[in-house]
Amino acid sequence: MSEPAAGAGLLGSPESVFCTYPIPEPGLFILRMHFDTGVFSGAQAPAPAEIVQGAAGCAGLVALVRDQVSDEVMAALPRLRAVANYGVGYDNVDLNAASRRGVLVTNTPDVLTEATADLTWALLLALARRLGEGERMVRAGKFHGWDPRMLLGADVSGATLGLVGFGRIAHAVARRAQGFAMSVIYSSRREDRQAESMGMVRVPLERVLQEADFVSIHVALTPETRHLIDAGALRRMRPTAYLINTSRGPVVDEVALLQALREGWIAGAALDVYEREPDVPVALRRLENVVLLPHLGSATRNARAGMARLCALNMVAALSGQVPPNLVNRDVLGIGVRD
Ligand code: DGY
Repeated sequence: MSEPAAGAGLLGSPESVFCTYPIPEPGLFILRMHFDTGVFSGAQAPAPAEIVQGAAGCAGLVALVRDQVSDEVMAALPRLRAVANYGVGYDNVDLNAASRRGVLVTNTPDVLTEATADLTWALLLALARRLGEGERMVRAGKFHGWDPRMLLGADVSGATLGLVGFGRIAHAVARRAQGFAMSVIYSSRREDRQAESMGMVRVPLERVLQEADFVSIHVALTPETRHLIDAGALRRMRPTAYLINTSRGPVVDEVALLQALREGWIAGAALDVYEREPDVPVALRRLENVVLLPHLGSATRNARAGMARLCALNMVAALSGQVPPNLVNRDVLGIGVRD
């Protein structure tokens, strides 16, 4: 089910691009200026067969982080030269297969950093101060007056924030922690001089888990980080500590997390992402000590428009023989690894 392509783009390019979703303006506008652009019009995410059908004959594919761009999908699209992912994460694209097939893959970093860091903080505060429970109480008509013992939470000011991974978003989360006079520790393969100069300390993952009052996850999903936070990791955390995940669901073993929450290994968790998204286990939904959001990290109008623009500019560069600004598989062009 795809909107019919409208002929060559306004600039006369003969190339065709298929979008699995009508990405916000100005992204779609830029794509339509340059390419013959088809857009998937189904209400749900397209199945792989629908992506293949819609993108048949296309040189470019604009995909969302929910779309699996597998080797099979790329094999069925022999004219494909570029996949512009609408998102900073790109674990939905088989990168090795793309490189092997000479397909450029791009993402949309930076433009969503602040929005995602804000949302991480919204979750942290909601968790610490029990906003979900309070809101449910009021909506259910169960607020019967101020009570000194009602819904007591944890202090955020002066607490220790532990960051698992220290890329752009973690950095932005850490900067906000300074306003709360928090100590910040982080685990990362690389030391971050700027962070160290701000008093943030790099420690092994075990220490982040053992020492932090709030553990926030900021790693990309890779074979190495799948279930990085498993039963062993959760058992290392303090019974008073909280886990926040705005990265990718499979980084946390959801079965182990459920056990940890039920048995009091940790105090609570706030999740924006899930192991089998969009499926959120009923058992998780029944717990009071969790805050659950529907993958809203970058969901501000500005961030989403910025992502769309970047996504389209990456596609224009990729299909016009330039190095796209946010090329992920740089090996495909024989150039060095990006920062
Ligand atoms: C991403 O960009 O990777 C997010 O998960 C969606 O904004």
